[in-house]
Amino acid sequence: MSESAQPATPVTFPPAFLWGAATSAYQIEGAVREGGRTPSIWDTFSHTPGKTAGGEHGDIAVDHYHRFREDVALMAELGLSAYRFSISWSRVQPTGRGPAVQVGLDFYRRLVDELLAHGIKPAVTLYHWDLPQELEDAGGWPARDTALRFAEYAQIVGEALGDRVEQWITLNEPWCSAFLGYGSGVHAPGRTDPEASLRAAHHLNLAHGLGTSALRSVMPARNSVALSLNSSVVRPLSPQDPTDLAAVRKIDDLANGVFHGPILHGAYPDSLFAATELITDWSYVLDGDLRAINQPLDALGLNYYTPALVSTAEADPNGRRADGHGASDHSPWPGADDVAFHQTPGERTEMGWTIDPTGLHELIMRYTREAPGLPLYITENGAAYDDKPDPDGRVHDPERIAYLQKHLAAVRRAITDGADVRGYYLWSLMDNFEWAYGYEKRFGAVYVDYVTLARTPKSSALWYGEAARTGVLPP
Ligand code: NOJ
Repeated sequence: MSESAQPATPVTFPPAFLWGAATSAYQIEGAVREGGRTPSIWDTFSHTPGKTAGGEHGDIAVDHYHRFREDVALMAELGLSAYRFSISWSRVQPTGRGPAVQVGLDFYRRLVDELLAHGIKPAVTLYHWDLPQELEDAGGWPARDTALRFAEYAQIVGEALGDRVEQWITLNEPWCSAFLGYGSGVHAPGRTDPEASLRAAHHLNLAHGLGTSALRSVMPARNSVALSLNSSVVRPLSPQDPTDLAAVRKIDDLANGVFHGPILHGAYPDSLFAATELITDWSYVLDGDLRAINQPLDALGLNYYTPALVSTAEADPNGRRADGHGASDHSPWPGADDVAFHQTPGERTEMGWTIDPTGLHELIMRYTREAPGLPLYITENGAAYDDKPDPDGRVHDPERIAYLQKHLAAVRRAITDGADVRGYYLWSLMDNFEWAYGYEKRFGAVYVDYVTLARTPKSSALWYGEAARTGVLPP
């Protein structure tokens, strides 16, 4: 059967499969000055001229801070069984250290209680890119202390919510925090220093390990601790060309091995050290760090959007900019100047990302082999389209339905092939602040009118809700 053909038989999921949607604090909350919250690196970055499309920022975002009850009611009405959201660190610990602000914690307690009252399982992400600015001023992720501060923060949130939230995710896509934040600079804090980006990656790993231990020390043993990786599916431009295969290896190390190496296997790949030896000496990896990072996990979260296609640089010296992570004169790939990125052929979403559900199947099967026995969740998958309301006010997004249909079918195939995938979180519940792209890129299943902030479920939300309620993909 071709990827685009309708499956002949209904695609049915296991009864306990979680049907969720995901968001993150800075992208939806707004209320950036309420309850003692202080600026995060994304407040600073988005208010710095030239950093985001149209100078857009998350000051109001979709005002979820004030409208969370309406948003939870909408999720319940659609029939979702799970919701993944993140905590704003600087709402809870405004300086990134010291005692917690109860008003901040209370907001999340109320949100969780509201979800539970509607029968929706909360999944908390502790860090979705919004480092308190004070911690950046003290050195940010390239500084070791940030990992220690994260462990303290994890403990505070674990103590406050551990009795009612079972699913925990320490970090969201640490690759973006390290390499877009400190390498290419297209994300906050906007630094462009390859050495710093590798230091940041190590300290994010350490934060994950120390944070996991901190959570476990204060939470009931039944709770599950995971992290969400944007693991790349990296493919060679010419599968027969050994230099292209070497390029795949290099990018795979820099995208995946740099995180899953220490986290799942307790070691960085030797080939990563070799590829980056002119940039860093890795002397910040101290004795005991790898043990601290290599904590047994309860689950692994995978975020997937599109695969990467690479070759040696000779094939396309400018290709690096086509890696789909935003324009910059600085590469987010330290030590990989000899690698070029290419556009994968095929239909694309509004982000310019090629639609390829085979990549999701491949990714799931890879981690099924790489981490046998570890339950997997698709913690993000979705597509941006240029959605507009019809004159009757309805929003029809058949492309998003097709995207979801194909990717969920790929998840189901992986389950049939032996993968233990327990749930899927659509990115995103509603349109929101798409980082450097501002509000123009709409990933939501629910449409947000940015003037009135009214929410309107798109046809994809209704389609997905039916899948969630029945466990079968609608036609
Ligand atoms: C990954 C990130 O976790 C999320 O914040 C972002 O909006 C989506 N990808 C889409 O780019």
